[in-house]
Amino acid sequence: MDKKNFISIAIDGPSASGKSTVAKLLASRLNFLYVDTGAMYRAYTLAVLSSSLNAKNEKESDSLIGKIEINFDENNHVCLNGKDVSKEIRENNVADNVSYIASYKNIRLFLVSLQRKIANNKNIVMDGRDIGTYVLKDAEVKIFLSADVEERARRRFSENKEKGIDTSYEECLENIKKRDYIDSHRDFCPLRPASDAIHIDSTNLSIEEVVSKMEEIIKKKGYLL
Ligand code: DC
Repeated sequence: MDKKNFISIAIDGPSASGKSTVAKLLASRLNFLYVDTGAMYRAYTLAVLSSSLNAKNEKESDSLIGKIEINFDENNHVCLNGKDVSKEIRENNVADNVSYIASYKNIRLFLVSLQRKIANNKNIVMDGRDIGTYVLKDAEVKIFLSADVEERARRRFSENKEKGIDTSYEECLENIKKRDYIDSHRDFCPLRPASDAIHIDSTNLSIEEVVSKMEEIIKKKGYLL
């Protein structure tokens, strides 16, 4: 079936900009599949750390390509080799190392090919850093979601607290700043808005307001609703 029978919505933006929360909600309202590609980079990072490999070493990290299985179960929880790791991937050791893993070209190509397979012939909302620029370059709707770094750190801090993950606000802020830098300075597929992406600054917007803006954008483009 022609890909154009399906609609892809690409949502990109920096860490803790609220992408996952709004993308999940938008997908459920539209009855589209939601794919959190950051969870896949985190699952790969967890695999590297659990195998006692050095995440700062590209060659060592590359050695798991094709040898591990990353997918989503029926609850849309990310699984590593068949085990639900949705909680472990949010821990500090993963957050501290995931940007190194995400900067390695061969690992990106491995995960991008999985992402494209998942997205094939489906109505989909996919969030990440390079969805509109690389993974789903032909997406019908592209949104770049950002927010001030302090606001993003506050959000990540309260999210962690809710999940029972022990971090301070300062740790969240430092981690987000470091990841912003690495994510936007890597050679292959750095974080940047696609030329045809529509920007939304969510600093002073509620989740509901962001989702409404997205629905408006989709409507204006002539798709659904
Ligand atoms: O969205 P997140 O914070 O869970 O993403 C984790 C890391 O993975 C983040 O540092 C950037 C990286 N990432 C990426 O490089 N490309 C993607 N498509 C998704 C995430």
